[in-house]
Amino acid sequence: MSLEYAARLRRIPSYPVAQTYEFGGELAKLASNETPFAPHPAVLEAIEAQVRTLNRYPDPSKARLREKIAGRLGVPAGTVAIGNGSCELLFAAADALLEPGAELVYAWPSFSVYPQLAAQSGARAIEVPLDSEHRHDLEAMAREVTVATRMVLVCNPNNPTGTALPLDEIDAFIGSLPRHVAVLLDEAYVEFNTLQDPDSSLPLLQKHANLVLLRTFSKVYGLAGLRVGYAIGPESFRAAVDQVRQPFSVSTLAQAGAIEALRHVDELERRVERTVIERVGMEDELADRGLAHAESQANFSWVSLGDRDEDEVMAALAKRGVIVRGGKSLGAEGFIRVTYGTAEENRRFLAALDAAL
Ligand SMILES: Cc1ncc(COP(=O)(O)O)c(C=O)c1O
Repeated sequence: MSLEYAARLRRIPSYPVAQTYEFGGELAKLASNETPFAPHPAVLEAIEAQVRTLNRYPDPSKARLREKIAGRLGVPAGTVAIGNGSCELLFAAADALLEPGAELVYAWPSFSVYPQLAAQSGARAIEVPLDSEHRHDLEAMAREVTVATRMVLVCNPNNPTGTALPLDEIDAFIGSLPRHVAVLLDEAYVEFNTLQDPDSSLPLLQKHANLVLLRTFSKVYGLAGLRVGYAIGPESFRAAVDQVRQPFSVSTLAQAGAIEALRHVDELERRVERTVIERVGMEDELADRGLAHAESQANFSWVSLGDRDEDEVMAALAKRGVIVRGGKSLGAEGFIRVTYGTAEENRRFLAALDAAL
């Protein structure tokens, strides 16, 4: 006899994990939008320094980390929620805001976790297609908001397309929505966006009491494995996401590492610069090959394969040890999403792509 699972389990899509194909040599892992930059050495030291305290539980209020983030961004510490990655905060937000009968609006294709939020909570997902330039169609999204809408997700820059919208358009969009609707502006890649200063979305929090910004240490900070993300929004939002989660989800090592990482934000500018160089280089190379791509403001490109078979291209890249993400698993067949790695990894990708095409 098998176990009897909750009915909602059948609705929850599996997160499309990157495939690690059989390959004898070292893989070029360009599938998960991580950065190739190692954690800052001081961050590693700060983590090591905490190892001997692991007989104790972590600080459930994450007070020091919240204060550091609040201090850096000039917001009250009570408005900052910390999560085991920003993913945990997305799930907690869904837990706190959604339920059967409620609606959730987001663009599609976008971050592959969003459909899970509806499936898990029993809320109805309204997926609004991106426009012809692979950007959020905010007007179309606004038209989908009803009295049942509890949450609207805006991913800027958008994963998997890398496209970004100007903040003033997002500002006007939020202003046009009813106040009971929580707008989660997912800024996981905001540091790579050269169209805006990463801090320029903060003043929107003063203007819109229903806005939550979502950020992460997983991308530009190079700490994806540590699992720390944060949200800034109304105090009631922080209280709500804390209420639905276990108190110890952010480990002692994660809290210590993130605190130290905030002391080295100067380093981030160098990382962004290097990423932008790779982005420009990659876009030139793609154009030379006649491959159309979305206009990226992130650390990855969304590349159209035209009429080529996605599976064949993916398999041919994998055979050469290059792992990217296929569009089929991300909501649009006939595309690949390639994360920028080191210059050497990117060259490997391009050589494998030439062979694949
Ligand atoms: C748009 C977006 N939001 C959030 C996340 C979650 O990141 P983490 O849970 O590592 O903070 C990701 C990760 O890929 C992402 O692409």
